Amino acid sequence: MILRYDFGHPYDTGALVEQLPVSDGPVPHFTVSRKDAQVSFSVPLGEEDMIFGLGQAVRGLNKRGHRYRAWNSDDFSHTEDKASLYGSHNLLLFTGRDGVWGAYFDDPGAVTFDLGYTRSDEAVITSENGDLSVYIIEGDSLTDLVKQFRRVIGKPYLPPKWGMGYIQSRWGYVTADDLREVVRGHREKHIPLDTVSMDIDYMDDFRDFTWDAKKFPDLKAFTDELRADHIRVMPIMDAGVKLHPGDSTFDAGMEKGYFCKKADGETFVGAVWPGKAVFPDFLREEVRQWFGDCYRPMLEAGVEAIWNDMNEPAIFYSVEGLQAAYDKADSLRGGNIGVYDYFDLKDAFTGMSNSMADYRRFYHIIGGKPVNHEKVHNLYGAMMTKATAQGMKAVRPGKRPLLFSRSSFIGAHRDGGIWQGDNFAWWSHILLNLKELASLNMVGFLFNGADLGGFGANTTEDLVLRWLQLGVFTPIMRNHAAMGTRDQEVYRFRNWETMRDVLGVRYALLLYLYSELVKAAETDGMMFRPLAFDYADDEVACRTEDQLMLGDAAMIAPVYEQNARGRHVYLPEDMLLVRFRSAEDYDLVPMEKGHHWVTLQMSEFPLFIRRGHVIPMAKAAEYVAGVDASRLTLLGWIESDTAITLYDDDGESDTIDLAAGLTEITVTVKDGQATAEAEGKTLDATRIVIG
Ligand code: GLC
Repeated sequence: MILRYDFGHPYDTGALVEQLPVSDGPVPHFTVSRKDAQVSFSVPLGEEDMIFGLGQAVRGLNKRGHRYRAWNSDDFSHTEDKASLYGSHNLLLFTGRDGVWGAYFDDPGAVTFDLGYTRSDEAVITSENGDLSVYIIEGDSLTDLVKQFRRVIGKPYLPPKWGMGYIQSRWGYVTADDLREVVRGHREKHIPLDTVSMDIDYMDDFRDFTWDAKKFPDLKAFTDELRADHIRVMPIMDAGVKLHPGDSTFDAGMEKGYFCKKADGETFVGAVWPGKAVFPDFLREEVRQWFGDCYRPMLEAGVEAIWNDMNEPAIFYSVEGLQAAYDKADSLRGGNIGVYDYFDLKDAFTGMSNSMADYRRFYHIIGGKPVNHEKVHNLYGAMMTKATAQGMKAVRPGKRPLLFSRSSFIGAHRDGGIWQGDNFAWWSHILLNLKELASLNMVGFLFNGADLGGFGANTTEDLVLRWLQLGVFTPIMRNHAAMGTRDQEVYRFRNWETMRDVLGVRYALLLYLYSELVKAAETDGMMFRPLAFDYADDEVACRTEDQLMLGDAAMIAPVYEQNARGRHVYLPEDMLLVRFRSAEDYDLVPMEKGHHWVTLQMSEFPLFIRRGHVIPMAKAAEYVAGVDASRLTLLGWIESDTAITLYDDDGESDTIDLAAGLTEITVTVKDGQATAEAEGKTLDATRIVIG
């Protein structure tokens, strides 16, 4: 049951697809208080209570003990102290003494979540503007709460099947030849690859919807050439449009009045990659339509994938902010600058980026009236994604585009995926990748993944390898790095063969992973879950922060420490360890419920399969279309006859018929031997452990 309570004048954020009636009376669970415009919701916390949710955020799966703030932020340093990242996913799930219940705060402005930070025995959620709908979700398990929530926010976006193939990316591939070299590097060594991305360098002077004719003389011929090799290109698109009279996007947007304006009616100017830029008012349908149409030329030139960036929106500085910093510098010039002046001077420049002062400087038009950006900030990226999805679908009707965005809000999960933004080549960020994976599943962003190998800082070979071993399972599997950092393409490393074999496992499991993704999306389920969701009565499982359930049958537990040759794993029930070295070479080890040290050499990584379940595996392939769905090996540990279903389809039509796409695979156990059957498939059941 979900109950809705309104405060102030809530905006229609589009997060929900189902309009619920507004309830009267007090909000269950919370004490509501008001101070100026703010509305706060507080609830006492029992000693053992846990809080899940918040989608993209730092720290634990259990979010208790820190203060978070829904405020979409371009922050490249995901350290523990950060309150905000790129997306706002205001769902909390409480579990403890009083059972389970959830709350969703549908507010496009800033919301703080003080989850046992100020007082360890209290959670206080504060909407800074006080205009919001609060949804209280009552249910009987964490999974049930998520299911109900997901039903009202609508089904998630699904990528084309090839979008789950390996993506190689780097900020720094400049020309078509650079990309050709990346493709060659993979193909020559038979390292799987489906997509290469094009970062800002492909543009002409960082102008949206342009490509530099010197670097890409014939985009259509280039995309055709790569497609012949089963490779797609994925260009980036930024929210800010270069202020550049003569640029067709800038001119058209100015003429139509489509860019955000200040109170005085002048167009707001902020700087991003191209220097001065203007910001489309994505909150207006006609602007989304127009911006979406701008993709047409590149899509017609064979581009089938887009990543949207800098759409929080990121603003390096505004004209006003820069002037204030210069003024500060001028006022101090020639003086003997002591500590406080020094701090002020430094802050005047470092604080220039993504400043609240700038976000308050411009307006959107909603319902014909100007609304200050601050009130609806967290919707900006989501609305850019909506525009892009519309534009892509218009060019290829009936087909799923590959699309992911950096900034997001709930609702955007229906239009595209998200990547986890600018992480670092830090071991701790493997774990952050894992935690966000599950938290994002709660809020519908099933198609997500992190920059494998790390975006910022120089990576190390072992970090890339261990991170890829987690990436095998993440729906987006992309290796991406920042300009100026050490090269991290698989083929460049001494141990490229080991990494190639890891990627091989991804392709061997791709049919299974795709099936799990689609099933989760279509049934309001979570492809990845904290163990607390499945083993609510198991205290150890509930507090486990470094393992996740995958689908119905499996569990993942990546190695995330340097120089480790294994890790501690807690099994909440009997499971079969599959210790992978490659898609052909792996050990099967039945293990009992409980604590285990699992030895994992550098080339080895685990997948655990619940006893009584089997999962299908194909042969490794070099691209998704090369995966042979007709020959499968089944892995598992069963005692008696078992049946599973595997979903498959053409991998691109946008109408999903779950029932029609399911194939039943039945496993029969007789005389200690397993045999398996399924229509249209040759099955090898010799890797099933009986007992
Ligand atoms: C942002 C993106 C990153 C990209 C860079 C240059 O930092 O998050 O992925 O490489 O911009 O476009």
